[in-house]
Amino acid sequence: MSRAGLSRLGQRIQEPAISWLMKLTLSQPGMASLAAGFTDNLSLPVEAVREIVESVLARPRLGRAALQYGSTAGDESLRDLTSQHLRASDMEASGKPQPSSLYSPDRLLITHGSQQLLYLCTEALCDEGDWVLVEDPTYFVYLGILRSRGVRARGVRMRADGLDLAHLEEVLESMKASGELRRLKMIYSVTYFQNPSSITTCFAKKKAALALLKRYESAAGHPLYYLEDAAYRELRFAGDDVSSALVAPRGASRVLYAGTYSKPFASGARVGFGLLPEPVFTAVLRIKGNHDFGTSNFLQQLLAEALARGHFRKHLPRLRARYASKRAVMTQAIRERFPSGVRWEDPQGGLYVWATLPSRCPTGFQSRFFKQALAAKVLYVPGDLCYASDRSRRPSRSSMRLSFGGSEESGIRTGIERLGRLMEKHKL
Ligand SMILES: Cc1ncc(COP(=O)(O)O)c(C=O)c1O
Repeated sequence: MSRAGLSRLGQRIQEPAISWLMKLTLSQPGMASLAAGFTDNLSLPVEAVREIVESVLARPRLGRAALQYGSTAGDESLRDLTSQHLRASDMEASGKPQPSSLYSPDRLLITHGSQQLLYLCTEALCDEGDWVLVEDPTYFVYLGILRSRGVRARGVRMRADGLDLAHLEEVLESMKASGELRRLKMIYSVTYFQNPSSITTCFAKKKAALALLKRYESAAGHPLYYLEDAAYRELRFAGDDVSSALVAPRGASRVLYAGTYSKPFASGARVGFGLLPEPVFTAVLRIKGNHDFGTSNFLQQLLAEALARGHFRKHLPRLRARYASKRAVMTQAIRERFPSGVRWEDPQGGLYVWATLPSRCPTGFQSRFFKQALAAKVLYVPGDLCYASDRSRRPSRSSMRLSFGGSEESGIRTGIERLGRLMEKHKL
């Protein structure tokens, strides 16, 4: 028992790096922040939201409903519209009709951002000591959820089109041999313009990963789920959309799909959603009932109206064009300023460039490079935050995630210029 009377979670919990990075970004004028995953300020749909709010409040019945509590699963019209949006995206991406039953609003729930859904799914499936497979690298905030809940994470290597399937099989096989497979619950995959690497998982890999999980289910003794985090799906500025894993065989029974309106519409509204199979849906819904018994109804109405009146659809091309141009500003600055020893990929969507310095130059919070970057007033996310700390392999310690989401063009250029100067000082 802790002297302060804290629970094991209360004692174990550390300040999430995301909170610290966001605080630093907001509190330090002059800091060029390429760290926090803020969305682009100038493209936030202020006018559309003003029009929607005015019109909702002008209709007393609708206005009162919006200002009242709602249901735990979420507003019915938003669930319907979300299900239609998801189905339409998958039909377009796959070029095939998809059954409406796959996207049934009855198994769709609205959450406080997709972040809450990730937390709830983890709570519903994992006990302390269980395992979740994550990508190498992965969304570091999700690693924080796992750590705080005492869930163990093991990394699976990535290739340019998603998971390294041979490595996934190797990991599953070794977990089977060691008996750890019985405590494996799911694989967590950020499938579109991944945070942090910007890799998009091709559909064939989603299908193959589900087939591989199926092969190991009898040894595990329970279903092995595929948590598909599609947070950046709509932020695509090149190439075609890719179908979700829902469309693959066993997609309906094994895929937990996490989506959000934060990135493609308004991050301040924090409205996300999940499409889940039973029995996970019911467990998550009940846990949410204890957390908050429903996401803000007012914000749900806002999103429902934005979808129903076409604001959302009209907003996307503008948003994509804006991010594409900010991406071009960042990549151009990188070409001009970063030494040739730094490797990076030009992203096709999302908010990030993932850059890797030579291994002799670590970039973590405790590194000389990071401290010098802070002193030079530029902030990035150290790559080593994005790796599960498992003993099966050594994570990259010299990468960085650079975001072109929140900063304006001049801030992006300044940030890259400051980093470039520092890299030159380190003779990279
Ligand atoms: C990969 C990924 N998933 C989920 C989220 C959570 O976003 P939200 O809760 O705003 O939907 C983020 C936010 O940055 C993210 O990068």
